[in-house]
Amino acid sequence: MKTLLKGQTLTWRADPFSTPWQDAYTHTTQGGVLLENGTITEVGDGADLAARHPDAETLDYGAHLILPGFVDTHVHYPQTGIVNSWGKTLVDWLNTFTFPEEMRLADPSYGAEIAGVYCDLALSHGITTMCSFATSAPASVTAFMQAAQDRSLRAFAGKTCMDRNAPDGLCDTATRAYDESLALLKRWHGVDRLSYVITPRFAPTSTPDQMDALGALWRDHPDCLMQTHLSEQTQELAWMAKLFPDAPDYLSVYEKFGLLGARGVYGHAIHLTDREIGALSDAGAAIAHCPTSNSFIGSGLCDVSGLAGRGVGIGLGTDTGGGSSFSMLRTMAACYEIAMLRDQTALHPMQLLWLATAGGARTLHVGDKIGTLAPGYEADLAVLDLASTPAIAQRAARAGDIWDATFPTIMMGDDRAIADVWVAGQRVQP
Ligand code: GUN
Ligand code: ZN
Repeated sequence: MKTLLKGQTLTWRADPFSTPWQDAYTHTTQGGVLLENGTITEVGDGADLAARHPDAETLDYGAHLILPGFVDTHVHYPQTGIVNSWGKTLVDWLNTFTFPEEMRLADPSYGAEIAGVYCDLALSHGITTMCSFATSAPASVTAFMQAAQDRSLRAFAGKTCMDRNAPDGLCDTATRAYDESLALLKRWHGVDRLSYVITPRFAPTSTPDQMDALGALWRDHPDCLMQTHLSEQTQELAWMAKLFPDAPDYLSVYEKFGLLGARGVYGHAIHLTDREIGALSDAGAAIAHCPTSNSFIGSGLCDVSGLAGRGVGIGLGTDTGGGSSFSMLRTMAACYEIAMLRDQTALHPMQLLWLATAGGARTLHVGDKIGTLAPGYEADLAVLDLASTPAIAQRAARAGDIWDATFPTIMMGDDRAIADVWVAGQRVQP
């Protein structure tokens, strides 16, 4: 069966951090996207597509904007229930709110409940692909994978390994981290649209033995992604210097244990040295920029355009619940604000939307499957209402072009702006 979606469309032609943004997109005011068996088969002029495919079931979104579904490259689904817990910076926040809540997900029924709540919230915000940390309990990976599978999501997740500096109830060991991760990898990696991600939480909560074991697991399964945290807060850096007194910098610890590579996704990456930036770039690695989290827990101002200019891949992450929102619109807004605060760089709305879609897809090494509207790509779509609230509508009504019309939704929009969502060619009404 063919489905034709009509509306405004944006497609990406190039990376707007290495090509002038003006040359990196195509906008069609009365565009169309043809879907067939879960795949995008044509993108073009809406009337032309309608004339050539009279048998297609047609849905006309009018002035709404049809985009690729959003890609959240860094989230902690188990922290859904503690999002916006008040008043702490990273280490105190982990100990006070996060670890106790993550402990609760050892109960499979609670894990399943939270995984369902999280996946539905993500979908209602137009997120069709996410890369999540689970907890150290294998059941929390299973709960998430099942919830994502039930909803046909393209989803990435892994058991969050920790064997020190965390409550006993959350700690595993080097051997258990390896064995439990391997069993989950074998069960879920490549099943439907699911991928397993090797996941040491971060160096302060993994012993050298555990990092060594997970580095070996990654060497044995090089097609898996590896995700962790890197250089988020200055107090964390001071702690790292005590735990690894011989290490020249934070990233060198991951390098030493085989945890730096092209399929590595490093959350935050704010307080980097020049050497670390060069090493990330040389490795072909990517960072997950999590701007709402960086302001909420007071981490600092990531240099997005500087890192992109040095050839480091970048995706956006909500980092819920250190991040304060489930919304990729709010995440793009915070990305804009942080770049402005850092050095008065004005990221263009095209760059923000690209980061939230194609940039994220590339970060997760699925840039050939999702992240833009093009023939052969999977039919994951978010449809934006560019006038979803009175405040946004009055501003958009005065807009001179598509970017002027879209930026108010990026800055002020929330789930009310998500008019519709398609996952693998199926409509999921938010
Ligand atoms: N560093 C280690 N664990 C976490 C986490 O759960 N959230 C954030 N924001 N940073 C971390
Ligand atoms: Zn995180």
